[in-house]
Amino acid sequence: MERSRVSLSGKERTFSPDELIVSKTDPKGRLTYVNDVFLAVSGYTEQEVIGQPHSIIRHPEMPRCVFKLLWDTISSGHELFAYVNNMAKTGDNYWVFAHVTPNFDAAGQIVGYHSNRRVPEASALDKIKPLYRKLLEEENRHADRKAGLDSSWRMLNQAVADAGFDSYDRFVFAITPNS
Ligand SMILES: Cc1cc2nc3c(=O)[nH]c(=O)nc-3n(C[C@H](O)[C@H](O)[C@H](O)COP(=O)(O)O)c2cc1C
Repeated sequence: MERSRVSLSGKERTFSPDELIVSKTDPKGRLTYVNDVFLAVSGYTEQEVIGQPHSIIRHPEMPRCVFKLLWDTISSGHELFAYVNNMAKTGDNYWVFAHVTPNFDAAGQIVGYHSNRRVPEASALDKIKPLYRKLLEEENRHADRKAGLDSSWRMLNQAVADAGFDSYDRFVFAITPNS
C-alpha cells in the first residue's frame, strides 16, 4: 500500500470522546496490532495495515519535525504525548491526541511501541494548527530536506520556549484541558 496513491479529500472525520484509537508496532514502526476504532476511523481493513509502516496514515500536512521528536523520544525509552493529524484511506483527515510508549523485554530492550489516542479538544487544536502550519511552511521553504528539518526543529523548540515551557510535552499538557 503506497500512501502516495491517496489524495486529500478536504473532509475531516472525528470519533467519540469515549473511544480510543489503539495501535502497536515493532521497533521499526511496522504495525503489529490495531483495534476496531483504528480501523473504523482510518477506513482500512486489518489485512491492509498489519505489517505496513505506521506512516500508512501519515498526513502530508504534518511537519516532519514532530515525527523526529516522536522517534527521538520513544527510541530513547521515553513516552510522548503529541497532537497528530492523520489521513484515512479516503483522504479524509482526523486529528488525534496520542500517547506513545515503548515496550521493553525483560532485558530492558525495546521490543515495540504502543499508541493510545483520544479525540483532541478544539481549544488545543486552535493552538496546534497554526504552529504545525508554520513548521510545515518552514520545512517546505528549503530545497534541502535536511536543512528544512533542522530549521523547523529549531522553530518547534523556540515556540515551546516562547510559550514558557521546557519541553513539547509540558507545552502539550498546558494546552490540553483535563490533562
Ligand atoms: C506506536 C507508533 C504510533 C505512531 N502513530 C502515528 C500516527 O498516528 N500517524 C503518523 O502519521 N505517524 C505515526 N507514527 C510515526 C510513523 O512511524 C512515521 O514516523 C510518520 O508517519 C512519518 O513518516 P515518514 O517518516 O515516513 O514520513 C507512529 C509511530 C509509532 C512507533
